[in-house]
Amino acid sequence: MKIGKRLRHIDAMVEPGYSHIWDCCCDHGLLGAALLSRLAAPFIHFVDIVPELMNELESRLRRFYPRSAWQVHCIDVAALPLSHHDGRQLVIIAGVGGDLMVQLVRAIHGANPDADIDFLLCPVHHQFTLRQQLIRLGFHLQQERLLEENRRFYELLLVSPRPDDRQHRNKVSAVGEQIWQAHSPEQADTASRYLRKTLAHYQRVQGGRKTDVQHIIAAYRAVTVQPLHSRTVAVCHHSLCGK
Ligand SMILES: C[S@@+](CC[C@H](N)C(=O)[O-])C[C@H]1O[C@@H](n2cnc3c(N)ncnc32)[C@H](O)[C@@H]1O
Repeated sequence: MKIGKRLRHIDAMVEPGYSHIWDCCCDHGLLGAALLSRLAAPFIHFVDIVPELMNELESRLRRFYPRSAWQVHCIDVAALPLSHHDGRQLVIIAGVGGDLMVQLVRAIHGANPDADIDFLLCPVHHQFTLRQQLIRLGFHLQQERLLEENRRFYELLLVSPRPDDRQHRNKVSAVGEQIWQAHSPEQADTASRYLRKTLAHYQRVQGGRKTDVQHIIAAYRAVTVQPLHSRTVAVCHHSLCGK
């Protein structure tokens, strides 16, 4: 099955070493199927709350992947049965709003505070809220990416609750850090347009006078997109980022 740019980028951020990968809110299971095809982990789980989708997906997986190790779970992602499995686990949640993602991550982490789990997150909107929650939970950043698909921007965050090794010691930043470091002129252009769009969004919210988002505006105003290919490093000077 062919997958789009966003799911391809998520797939590319999945490194070897996990025993179980959970494609959460999987819808038609495109991402999980891609992971299954390339044997990204010994066991792939597909999770969604809609029974019709999961029945249909299960039939397709039986047909196309009869000998692979997979399981379909028709459950709320907040109730993932992670403790039933051993080894390193990766929980992928993509394509849902940042607010829902916050609830799901909080529930999963709350039920498995000491488990060896990484989270790969790609929210639709509310990235700032999600980052705030990850900071509150004390999560560590492994990697973050920014991408554009169909004129929409997406942040991809690979985070971990536990600082196991040197790679995991970076704090999650309130507005992102690696995403503003462009390795090519194209990335610099994407990051600049994303920054402008995000600022414009929060300025509109502030103008509406219903919610005070001045601190968010200040945080994004402190970001500079600077191309790494010209050997300059992007720095966020805002105190919220803790850098
Ligand atoms: C837009 S699809 C995302 C598909 C895919 N992950 C992606 O990024 O393209 C969102 C899916 O999330 C599922 N969903 C929403 N809340 C959920 C929850 N609490 N537990 C399980 N699935 C949920 C919906 O049923 C829907 O299929």
